[in-house]
Amino acid sequence: MTGNMLPKPGEYDHGLRPYKYPELEVFFGMYPATKVVQAVTAGIHSQLLVQVCRMMRAKNIVELGSGTGVGTAALADYCVSVGGHLTSVDIGETIAKSKLGHRPEITFVVSDSVSYADRWQGPVDVVYVDSDHSRRHALNELNGWLRHGPRMFLMDDTLDPNDPHGSPLEAALDFCAQHSWTWCNIPVGTGLAILLPR
Ligand SMILES: C[S@@+](CC[C@H](N)C(=O)[O-])C[C@H]1O[C@@H](n2cnc3c(N)ncnc32)[C@H](O)[C@@H]1O
Repeated sequence: MTGNMLPKPGEYDHGLRPYKYPELEVFFGMYPATKVVQAVTAGIHSQLLVQVCRMMRAKNIVELGSGTGVGTAALADYCVSVGGHLTSVDIGETIAKSKLGHRPEITFVVSDSVSYADRWQGPVDVVYVDSDHSRRHALNELNGWLRHGPRMFLMDDTLDPNDPHGSPLEAALDFCAQHSWTWCNIPVGTGLAILLPR
């Protein structure tokens, strides 16, 4: 759904619900199959992140929300392969930084992701948005980083039915309605939205 078919903010319902995989529960026996499937799709999710950055020939990537470093590690490996650089921002000290802080292709920044946009200097090709998933914060991030001219935003957890704040996809829709950008949502893992200028 794009362009003039955009639903009003808050009206969007992606219609996808988590599937519980009961037949796989039987197959995997003692392992909760939902966890197995989540682990597999998390791997696909990271690879998808990397493939999209590769497709964009991104060299300067900013990640908002370092967390445990799953996305950070995948993006850092990609940066090594293209001579790029990843800046990973988190409001607190993270497992990501303690695991990956020694790698020269990553700069870890402890900051609120929106205020850091005010201090950012330099180019950015892709911003990967995965911090506070509230609609307001995600929208502030998109608007804050827009002024630095990214060619793409990637937004995580756009299908997560357990997110108490609702889907960050709502922020993506608000943003695309306000600016001349368009979006698509990829239902892998907990969802990955791609936002591009028209
Ligand atoms: C979903 S986790 C990030 C997961 C990570 N991208 C990964 O692949 O493992 C969300 C992170 O956002 C951080 N965060 C929450 N609010 C933030 C804010 N206002 N600014 C920056 N980071 C924030 C949290 O500390 C947390 O580490």
